[in-house]
Amino acid sequence: MHPVTRSSARLGLRELAIADVEALLAIYGSPAATEHLSFEPRNREQVEQVVARSVTAATAMPRTEYALAVVETETAELIGSGRLALDPHQQHGATMGFALRPDVWGRGYGAETVRLLLDFGFNDLQLHRIWGARSPLNTASAKTMSAVGMVEEGTIREHVLKAGKWRDSVVHAILDREFYTCS
Ligand SMILES: CC(C)(COP(=O)(O)OP(=O)(O)OC[C@H]1O[C@@H](n2cnc3c(N)ncnc32)[C@H](O)[C@@H]1OP(=O)(O)O)[C@@H](O)C(=O)NCCC(=O)NCCS
Repeated sequence: MHPVTRSSARLGLRELAIADVEALLAIYGSPAATEHLSFEPRNREQVEQVVARSVTAATAMPRTEYALAVVETETAELIGSGRLALDPHQQHGATMGFALRPDVWGRGYGAETVRLLLDFGFNDLQLHRIWGARSPLNTASAKTMSAVGMVEEGTIREHVLKAGKWRDSVVHAILDREFYTCS
């Protein structure tokens, strides 16, 4: 499916474009935003590569990667990123990732972003199960995923190698029927 566009009360999802590098750098280059993510803060060149890969993946057939911009409707600014990647090990399953620019945290945008991604995944991609993996210390992510009905399922031991150290991930997931019940 391409191009993807969806909107909620205050936010929209759209395809990433090469012109988004600067705005994404404010997230992927931020030590605060990446503290609990699987990678160290990225530099401009790395963000350029991520965007270029995402733009290419957006038109792949079949498409398995949906790396999308989260845009604030009022300002038309890119304030976050959201991603669904079809899970090659599970039928009708996808992993989800999301990150927002630190200055917009605490306004309910995180939960609104995840709802948009779930709505897109279940309604448009007809997925059965969507899951996200967070750092055990990432309380904001835990609360955000719980707020939209994602259930904590357990721990994947030594899942992520970051700065030379392995860390566990905690899995949260939601099924299509659960999403429709709570939305
Ligand atoms: C996770 C993230 C998207 C949350 O965004 P946000 O806009 O601040 O979240 P919301 O305002 O929608 O809050 C959602 C819930 O999380 C809670 N929350 C948010 N930040 C929190 C924090 N730092 N500590 C404790 N709870 C927090 C809110 O109180 C709310 O809970 P409630 O529904 O029980 O009131 C944001 O912190 C972020 O981008 N972090 C960096 C990237 C990241 O960690 N992504 C997740 C990868 S798994």
